[in-house]
Amino acid sequence: MARKVIDEDMKELVKKAREARGNSYSPYSRFAVGAAVRTSSGRVFQGCNIESCSYGLTICAERVAVFNAVSEGECDFAALAIFTEAKDLTPPCGACRQVLSEFCGELVIILANPGGEKKLKLSELLPLPFNKRNL
Ligand code: THU
Repeated sequence: MARKVIDEDMKELVKKAREARGNSYSPYSRFAVGAAVRTSSGRVFQGCNIESCSYGLTICAERVAVFNAVSEGECDFAALAIFTEAKDLTPPCGACRQVLSEFCGELVIILANPGGEKKLKLSELLPLPFNKRNL
């Protein structure tokens, strides 16, 4: 039997990220992104990218999902899924990697598009984060 690349929980998380993408407000880039983060307690929070006509005020889907969770008192994360319809899977930007590292040590990150998905670890994407211990 072929090895399962992602398990059922992860499939569900990708579904939630895909669903969140539907709320993307991205009239300037037309690049819609959805994200969903699963907390260690099993709750799922969604986010989409939200753009501004003052372009620099735009916020990525990943940070919206994480801030949504933190604002509900959830700061401990197990996995994050990112869904776009780009041909190449979309990795989180550098700013989001840094924000994720604030809350997550060993976060699993699933990049997904309609063609498939790839499972990574935050430590692979951001091997030497600036963190609280550096203060
Ligand atoms: N974007 C995200 O939401 N997440 C990423 O990981 C990469 C970029 C958004 C920001 C902006 O609204 C659009 O994609 C194009 O950069």
